[in-house]
Amino acid sequence: MPRIAYVNGRYIRHAQAAVHIEDRGYQFADGVYEVCEVARGYIVDMTRHLDRLNRSLSELQIAWPMTRSALQLVMREVVRRNRVINGLVYLQVTRGVAPRDHAFPAPGVKPALVVTAKRSDPAAAAKKAETGLAVITVPENRWDRVDIKTVGLLPNVLARQQARSVGAQEAWFVDPDGTVKEGASTNVWIVTRDSRLVTRPADHGILRGITRATVIDVAAKLGLEVEERAFSVAEAKQAREAFITAATMVVMPVVTIDGTPVANGHPGSVALSLRHAFFDIAEKIKA
Ligand code: PDD
Repeated sequence: MPRIAYVNGRYIRHAQAAVHIEDRGYQFADGVYEVCEVARGYIVDMTRHLDRLNRSLSELQIAWPMTRSALQLVMREVVRRNRVINGLVYLQVTRGVAPRDHAFPAPGVKPALVVTAKRSDPAAAAKKAETGLAVITVPENRWDRVDIKTVGLLPNVLARQQARSVGAQEAWFVDPDGTVKEGASTNVWIVTRDSRLVTRPADHGILRGITRATVIDVAAKLGLEVEERAFSVAEAKQAREAFITAATMVVMPVVTIDGTPVANGHPGSVALSLRHAFFDIAEKIKA
């Protein structure tokens, strides 16, 4: 069965799907995106993802490419046509196609929309969670609007590659004051010695992760206290647990930071219980 993508009004074979060479996403990274988890045939936290899309679009003054309800239908259709039961649905909206010019194009230019879906193996992810991930730290070198989910991800790409080149799986951006911002594509958490969850406030300087928001709900349901404050790399290395969150991996334990084991170097029970409870508490919309 061929993979199907939605591109500007048409469902087409993924292998043949293409956008124009003067798409502003291609030329200027002038666009935004969302990634939603698909689990057991449901799109997870779609409302929160579309709320964040709305915010990203309005911060960049890009119009919705279609109504919100039409976009929900397209996302569900792409998931269904690709028979994704577990995996991801990706959507990208750019300012559209126009002759290259840094300033915005004429008002008539329509935003471009691409939606794709792909399968993933929940058993492989569960196995990864049993082992945990290694992370490295890198200096923060991104612009100060990382709260907008733009496709301009070059620092994130380079950071992730740096992690991979030393056998780690994620890189954490660290401010000059030594506090941890977030991962290349994840939000960062620690569990203190007195079992409090700590994550950086999501006002400025990090992406307002949807998984992060839902994990705060999950923690409340499990009776765990969450403190939204900055923490340093040194504090993370001495924490009882560390973990990262994203739609692509839900809750994933971190077992080493720059080669230093976190606690005994094994995934912690808090991270695993949050991971376990996540699906039941998150919003689910049948694809
Ligand atoms: N990335 N921080 C950054 C920089 C991210 O790119 C992401 C998600 C997150 C976590 O956000 P959420 O919980 O909404 O997925 C935090 C997506 C998954 C990606 O680029 O693939």
